[in-house]
Amino acid sequence: PPGSRRRRGSCRVRAAGARLTEGYPDHLREEVEAYLAGLRFADEPAAAGLEEAMRYSLLAGGKRIRPVLALATARALGRDPLGVLALGAALELIHTYSLIHDDLPAMDDDDLRRGRPTCHVRYGEDVAILAGDGLYAEAFRHVLSAQAAEPAHLLAAVCELAAATGVNGMVGGQYIDVKGLVDGGAASLRRLHELKTGRLIGASVECVLLLLGVGDGASGGSTLTHFRSFAAELGLLFQIVDDILDVTGTEVTLGKPQGSDERHGKLTYVSSYGLEGAREMALESHRSARAALARASRNGTGELEQITDFIYTRTT
Ligand code: IPE
Ligand code: IPE
Ligand code: MG
Ligand code: MG
Ligand code: MG
Repeated sequence: PPGSRRRRGSCRVRAAGARLTEGYPDHLREEVEAYLAGLRFADEPAAAGLEEAMRYSLLAGGKRIRPVLALATARALGRDPLGVLALGAALELIHTYSLIHDDLPAMDDDDLRRGRPTCHVRYGEDVAILAGDGLYAEAFRHVLSAQAAEPAHLLAAVCELAAATGVNGMVGGQYIDVKGLVDGGAASLRRLHELKTGRLIGASVECVLLLLGVGDGASGGSTLTHFRSFAAELGLLFQIVDDILDVTGTEVTLGKPQGSDERHGKLTYVSSYGLEGAREMALESHRSARAALARASRNGTGELEQITDFIYTRTT
C-alpha cells in the first residue's frame, strides 16, 4: 500500500542520507558466474572427484558479492570491470573454501549451504576438507597465472589477498569465533567481525586498487585511504546483517540453516545488542559506508552504491 511505501521511503532517507538504490548489478554477477563455470582444476583423472566436490560448492549459486565488488571497483576507477575477472574469481574461490570449512562438523556443523546439502554431507568430511584446501591453493594459482597486471601491482594485490585471509584476517577471525574468545565488549565483537568477514570483503575492493596501481601517487594515496575505509565499513556491515538474518531469515531464503549462531551459543550483534540494537548499528554502519564511498569517488560509483545498499537491505 502507498502508506507503507511512504513510511519505508522516509526510513530509507534516514538510513542513507539519500535514497537507497534498488537492485543488484546482475550484469556483473552474470559475468562472474560464467567465468567461474569455465574454471577446471584437475589434470589428473584420479583427482576428478575432488574437482567435482570443489565445483559442487563453487557453482551452487551464491550472491558473488566479493567478485562483483571487485568488478564494480574497477569501473569506479574508470577501468574495464572484466579486466579484473581473474582476481574476482580468486576471491570467490577463497570465499567458497571458507564456507565449506565453516560448515564442517568441527566448526559450525551446518547441513545446508547455498540451498544444497553442504559439501561434507554430500562428499564426506575428508573430501570436503580437501575441496576447501584445493580451492584456496587454486585461487592463488589462478590469479597469479591469469590476471593481467604490472608484476609489482599483481604482487601487491596477491599479498593483500593472502593477508586478508590469513591469521590477521579471515582465519584468525574464525579462530576467535570458534574458540569463543570475544569478551562481550563492543570493541572485541567489532574486531571479530572485521577479521572473519570484513577483511575479505575489504580485500575485494582494496586488491583492485593495488592491482590497478592506485595509491602510487599523492592523489592516489588519498583515494586508496577513502576506498579502504569504505571497504572496511562495508565488511562490518555485511556481518552485522548476517547476524541479524541468522535470527530473522528463513532457511528457504538464506539457503542455509536459520538459528545456527544461537544453537552454538555464538556471540553476535544480535545476542549482544538485541535485534533492534543490531538493526540500529547496521543503519549506522550503512550510513558510514555510504559517506566513505562518497568521499572516495564522485564518479562511476553507481554499482558500488547499489551493492552497499543491497548488503544493508538483503534478505538472502
Ligand atoms: C556468507 O557469505 C558467509 C559470511 C561471510 C557471513 P555470503 O552471504 O556472501 O554467502 P554466499 O556467497 O552468497 O553464499
Ligand atoms: C562465517 O561466518 C564467516 C566465514 C569466514 C565463512 P558465519 O558462520 O556467520 O557464516 P554463515 O552464517 O555460516 O554463512
Ligand atoms: Mg561460522
Ligand atoms: Mg557458519
Ligand atoms: Mg552467520
